[in-house]
Amino acid sequence: MNSINHEERVRHEGLREKIMSAEQAAEFIHNDMNVGMSGFTGAGYPKAIPAALAKRMEAAHARGEAFQIGLFTGASTAAECDGVLAKAKGIKMRSPYQSDPDFRKQVNAGEAHYFDMHLSHVAQQSTFGFYGDMHVAVVEVAGILPDGRLIPSTSIGTSNAWLHNADKIILEVNSRQSLLLEGMHDIYDDIGVPPNRTPIPLITPGGRIGSPYMTCDLSKVVGIVLTDSPDRNSKFADPDEKSNKIADLIIDFFGHEVKKGRMPANLLPIQSGVGNVANAVLAGLQNSPFENLTGFTEVMQDGMLDLIMSGKMTMASATAMSLSPEALDRFNANIETLRKRIILRPQEISNHPEVSRRLGVLAINAMIECDIYGNVNSTHVMGTNMMNGLGGSGDFARNAFTSFFVTPSVAKEGAISCIMPMVSHVDHTEHDVMVIVSEQGLADLRGLAPRQRAKVIIEKCAHPDYRPMLQDYYDRSVKTAGMHTPHMLDEALSWHQRYVETGDMRIA
Ligand code: COA
Repeated sequence: MNSINHEERVRHEGLREKIMSAEQAAEFIHNDMNVGMSGFTGAGYPKAIPAALAKRMEAAHARGEAFQIGLFTGASTAAECDGVLAKAKGIKMRSPYQSDPDFRKQVNAGEAHYFDMHLSHVAQQSTFGFYGDMHVAVVEVAGILPDGRLIPSTSIGTSNAWLHNADKIILEVNSRQSLLLEGMHDIYDDIGVPPNRTPIPLITPGGRIGSPYMTCDLSKVVGIVLTDSPDRNSKFADPDEKSNKIADLIIDFFGHEVKKGRMPANLLPIQSGVGNVANAVLAGLQNSPFENLTGFTEVMQDGMLDLIMSGKMTMASATAMSLSPEALDRFNANIETLRKRIILRPQEISNHPEVSRRLGVLAINAMIECDIYGNVNSTHVMGTNMMNGLGGSGDFARNAFTSFFVTPSVAKEGAISCIMPMVSHVDHTEHDVMVIVSEQGLADLRGLAPRQRAKVIIEKCAHPDYRPMLQDYYDRSVKTAGMHTPHMLDEALSWHQRYVETGDMRIA
């Protein structure tokens, strides 16, 4: 046990007796178990037990014994969690979103299984046993109250469901997470069982419908591990010219929609996806004419925090803080005020279709590529190589008031067009995609038939170097194939083949 002030953090006397080292706690996890860990986009994941577990795995492998687990989280974690377990070749099955480079290689080499799914579905799929039994939950918390209720950490994700569904529970109490997080969360985890579910009573992004604490059956808690480590806190790239252009186009479009009377002057709640481009769009809103914005999103990145801190955004709901180190300092320095303006919820609620649809979310997500008819690929390079995963993009796009997908018009220094004749993998079909934006322009696809969509996507979003080729593909497809959605399948595939021939198959 280390010197952390455990009396302040672990206020339940009985649970204090369960304090142990990460190595001792890792002994509860065995080969072939399913483990549900906290963590969402590098926030609130366990920091000590995964490393201790990875050591046990490596030792077992050295003895020629099998030791791999099914690893389930809220979403991606970090090097100290996914990273160490992947390096130890200790993950047999992983779900949902993840972005660890080593595990990505194992997945793409066919060495490990990865089940990518909508994040709003994870808790339900676990609760009904679609993942198999959940043997152990390993959940980071900021503290434990005298009655055993848990002060959550910087993310909720699916932690509340792991606590309910697992046979055994291990808690990592991280004293690096501010105790002033207490009160920021809203845990509503009683959505019921079909066909007897009732409406989720959330009618504004700032509504509180649950408790600030997570709960669990304390008799299932087998270990408490004290830690003192920061979240991953990746830095975002400063918005570049292309991202700024994309942001400007979206902000102009918002103005147009307000003028048309389609949304109020303070817009509708904004959801913004992961990645640099999505972050840049939020940064762009800082200098926009819109005031009193709200956010109903999955991850709170730097851009949204800045909007809240400047007063441009009055309230934001998310499931995780995913901040750069500088933004985290700003967050911690102002946490007393921010606690009233940021609410962290379970991902089952932050991403819930019913709530997004009711609130009328403006969903802005990045993509890898789209096709001339508006189908979007968010996950696979060349149709076969998994990048990260779908995350919440489908939860939001499908149920948004307006769904936007954003991308630079070209990738890999222009070697490949992000606007393709046909996407190599479909995550979001043309039916869920309303607006596509690249630095070249914005294509409003609402109400357009496939042939009309092709015209605006090529004209507005494609890079000038690729526009004539796409137009030529489309014209010949109309002539040779015709039909509702004109295509020449052999030729469509050759666009991806061309990319292979450039030799530039870097997958991060
Ligand atoms: N073909 C090949 N590679 C492509 C590509 C394409 N059409 N488009 C992008 N890439 C590569 C980039 O070159 C870059 O590779 P690098 O790391 O080797 O430089 C990488 O993909 C990331 O692209 P980038 O332009 O930096 O965008 P990003 O950081 O905004 O990430 C996604 C884009 C699509 C990968 C990311 O947003 C994602 O994983 N989305 C899915 C999950 C999601 O939408 N969640 C939101 C719900 S909250």
